[in-house]
Amino acid sequence: MNSIEMIAVERLFEEEGILAGDILSPTGVLLLPSGLDIGSLRSARPDAIELLQKHRIEKIPVKKHEPVTVEEFQRLVSSFTPPIARLNPLLSRVIAHQMGAIFTNIGNRELREEGVRSLFSIGGTLASEIRRIPQITLSLGEDAERKLDAAFHGVNVALVAGHIASRLFPLWPEFIRSVTIGGLFHDIGKAFILTSGYSADIIKMLRNDRITQTHPLLGEALLRDAGIRSQDILSFVRSHHEVWDGSGYPDGLTGESIPVGARIIAVANVFHNVLAEKGEGKKRSDQAISSLIASTLGRFDHFIVRALLASIGLYPPGSVVELSDGRSGVVLETRERNLIRPRILLMTGLRRQRELAPEIVDLRVNTSVSIRRAIDDFGAMPVPPLVAVGEGRTNVLFRKYRSPARLE
Ligand SMILES: [Fe+2]
Ligand SMILES: [Fe+2]
Repeated sequence: MNSIEMIAVERLFEEEGILAGDILSPTGVLLLPSGLDIGSLRSARPDAIELLQKHRIEKIPVKKHEPVTVEEFQRLVSSFTPPIARLNPLLSRVIAHQMGAIFTNIGNRELREEGVRSLFSIGGTLASEIRRIPQITLSLGEDAERKLDAAFHGVNVALVAGHIASRLFPLWPEFIRSVTIGGLFHDIGKAFILTSGYSADIIKMLRNDRITQTHPLLGEALLRDAGIRSQDILSFVRSHHEVWDGSGYPDGLTGESIPVGARIIAVANVFHNVLAEKGEGKKRSDQAISSLIASTLGRFDHFIVRALLASIGLYPPGSVVELSDGRSGVVLETRERNLIRPRILLMTGLRRQRELAPEIVDLRVNTSVSIRRAIDDFGAMPVPPLVAVGEGRTNVLFRKYRSPARLE
């Protein structure tokens, strides 16, 4: 449905479309990258024509948006699958169950420390997966039976935090790994509190209570006892409830004195907490993002919040959305600069008036229309439980994933 045309440089701004290839100077310098929208180029680089002419470039390839036929449209809609890789759900399931086993065995020092060590090594695998997968929100999981919510929270925070870290610091694999593992273990200290007789709901109510506030310190101590020596990971777990303005705990750190990994985990944590709200208040990903923006103002590193928003894209390609005028369509592409005004392939009119050609609306150009809501959710997907090996022997997972040095 899109065709590529060679456009004379002097006519560039008369066209609509997207650059279909990198434009290089004769010496190989990148002048304009592939995928650039000509509309945005017009305002961002009004000197683009002069620039290209200076380098003696005469023609450039432009991918034109052409009206699609009804058949093409139907084929597109029926064959659509989001162009996004998912994390292997088995990996998140194994990690969540293993985390659940630590919670269960928190009173048994030997079992819990062994559990921490084996989970630590799987956390490294998770970090490699995060670096491989560009889009992580579709990989968030939730417990199909809702028994392991606290464990899945750890996995999901690790996914989001590792993802933010890989966007901000793509050249620091060690840092991405530490943030991912820190995210995995950030609330491990809660295991002591949860097993002390409080229910998860009470813990939520006690969010600001002194007992709950000890969990970052308990978590840090637990990891230290289990032999985790990474100062980064220990400090990320300790400081994940510090707040930019100094109102957090346990140390009341402010701004950039909060370790950057802890700041990342804090944003991932609030994002997943909003997303995971149950019952009436349960939110979809897009609503979670709105709440995230509202609740993070002044409390979190805005640079990190922005990185999360930009990486998710409020309405990633493939989302089905309803517009303010009642029509609905599929999001074709999102622009990093303007996340809430993507290009949309409209679906309305197709069923009733078959002769009507499907239409593409660019919300950046057509400002009278906006997105009212996303019809599909790109949030958590239910993850079925692991089949237990032997009755009541959840710690069998530890044996399976025990580090080779400790195998009998
Ligand atoms: Fe926490
Ligand atoms: Fe948390």
